[in-house]
Amino acid sequence: MMWGRVQNSWLHVSARSLKKSPQNLKGKSVTEQRWLERQLNDQFVKAAHLHNYRCRSAFKLLEIDDRYKVLKPGFTVIDCGAAPGAWSQVAVQRVNSAGQDPALPKGRVIGIDLLHISPLEGAEFLAMHDITMASTLTALEKLLSGAQAHAFLSDMAPNATGFRELDHERLVSMCLSMLDMADRLLKPGGSLICKCWDGALANKLQQKLSTLFKDVRKVKPKASRKESSELFFLARMFKT
Ligand SMILES: C[S@@+](CC[C@H](N)C(=O)[O-])C[C@H]1O[C@@H](n2cnc3c(N)ncnc32)[C@H](O)[C@@H]1O
Repeated sequence: MMWGRVQNSWLHVSARSLKKSPQNLKGKSVTEQRWLERQLNDQFVKAAHLHNYRCRSAFKLLEIDDRYKVLKPGFTVIDCGAAPGAWSQVAVQRVNSAGQDPALPKGRVIGIDLLHISPLEGAEFLAMHDITMASTLTALEKLLSGAQAHAFLSDMAPNATGFRELDHERLVSMCLSMLDMADRLLKPGGSLICKCWDGALANKLQQKLSTLFKDVRKVKPKASRKESSELFFLARMFKT
């Protein structure tokens, strides 16, 4: 598939559709029924199908990157928590790592996840790798063979325990592990985008980011559900 820049035109396609109700709800819990109904009527889910993205989260990165231009042709990008691979799809398009535009420099996308990730042209995956393990850093360093990355991305999320504060703490701890990795492997001037859930430690994470990057801000793309405590830190100009 030829990857072009996806602008917000996909919104018009879905805005006209009528609200649908899911079929075959027998045996499903109320929570499952609500989830199915939300998926069925979610404009970003529809747009993800339309544009062949592996999941709706692609639109969060597209929106952030359209606005802040973090990903450029020729860049090396590390995508943490990459499964099923939608952010990696966006990164492949933007850094030209599949060589889709021969006139532009060819970048590199390396995705890391605990889970298996289906192959994607233009991306290399360290599947079954835990971001918090030293062995993952070693594997990444080996892949990079001395090179450094222009950007780190993280849409990681731990398996939800149902305890909000605990999930928040686990996510922040994973983000800090990624930051340690970025501290070693990010080029001076590089960028980082990292998902967090709002909570007691979000400010601490922001402070830590501010010690490493000259410009740190919170962003909430439209594809991030309003009712979700999800937010993204965009950190630019890595100091050293
Ligand atoms: C919301 S999904 C990411 C979706 C992805 N950005 C996309 O667009 O396809 C969160 C991912 O974080 C991964 N994850 C959770 N803990 C992790 C860890 N310790 N190391 C690596 N990945 C982890 C999960 O396995 C899951 O695939």
